[in-house]
Amino acid sequence: MSVSDVQLDLMPVPPKGGRDDQFPVPQPLETHGPARIIAMCNQKGGVGKTTTTINLAASLAEYGRKVLIIDFDPQGAASAGLGVNTQELDLTIYNLLLSSKVDVHDAIVETQVPNLHIIPANIDLSAAEVQLVNEVAREQALTRVLRPILDDYDVIFVDCQPSLGLLTVNALTAAHGVMIPLEAEYFALRGVALLVDTIDMVADRLNPRLKIDGILATMVDTRTLHSREVLERLYQAFGEKVYDTQIRRTVKFPDASVATEPITTYAPTHAGAEAYRRLAREVIARGDAA
Ligand SMILES: Nc1ncnc2c1ncn2[C@@H]1O[C@H](COP(=O)(O)OP(=O)(O)O)[C@@H](O)[C@H]1O
Ligand SMILES: [Mg+2]
Repeated sequence: MSVSDVQLDLMPVPPKGGRDDQFPVPQPLETHGPARIIAMCNQKGGVGKTTTTINLAASLAEYGRKVLIIDFDPQGAASAGLGVNTQELDLTIYNLLLSSKVDVHDAIVETQVPNLHIIPANIDLSAAEVQLVNEVAREQALTRVLRPILDDYDVIFVDCQPSLGLLTVNALTAAHGVMIPLEAEYFALRGVALLVDTIDMVADRLNPRLKIDGILATMVDTRTLHSREVLERLYQAFGEKVYDTQIRRTVKFPDASVATEPITTYAPTHAGAEAYRRLAREVIARGDAA
């Protein structure tokens, strides 16, 4: 779908956010890998990319999937949110991108969540974009980094920084699918056209397998007419690409990141934790994760 087809006039749309038991609890896996790579992208900051990466990854890990997060933002929020002290790291994704001599296994950090690992990032990564420009196959640096570990994981998430620069192009080039978190606010759709153009360009020139897995409504407040209208517009514009699961606005998410844990362990029975588990079941039901 291209965003030029987006219709923003209000028409009745089928309700979303259906029953909790709509998506079945997945069967345990007997074998693991090869990994499906999912890029978490939106060039707008503060829309829930990192929160979704951490909590969807943790939920899939709870369901027995082996999951790796690539922190691809120099802010290092995914690393910090999982308790990694980013100042004390010898090896980060930056070193792997810039040198093929570093062993990717040495940069993998285990988190407190079983089955969930991360390759962290810190401020060093902010130099990578400029340094990669002069490299051969500069768009394929992340693809090269991940190749030796594809069989070790079921899903690899790439938590992108809020930009459409070379690092994000690297994430899209390595990925099988893109997940787009969108804040349920007016004007959230602005900018999505540019993101879809970038995805189309990468699919055209660098990565024909790339597809948009889905669009996730985040920070939803269904008590307000405003939020409901925004959701209707989203469903009109993107139809089936919008996940049925919605993520409500709750202070438990910032609380969990201060506690450097996923919400699924910080407040395991909270509605926010249940929402990400439901999203994990929906992603598996769609065939976008093992
Ligand atoms: N559903 C939510 N409800 C309330 N706050 C949220 C929610 N999702 C994320 N946040 C908070 O909003 C801020 C931005 O979220 P984050 O996931 O870091 O966005 P991004 O990675 O897109 O910049 C963080 O402080 C996070 O804790
Ligand atoms: Mg982020």
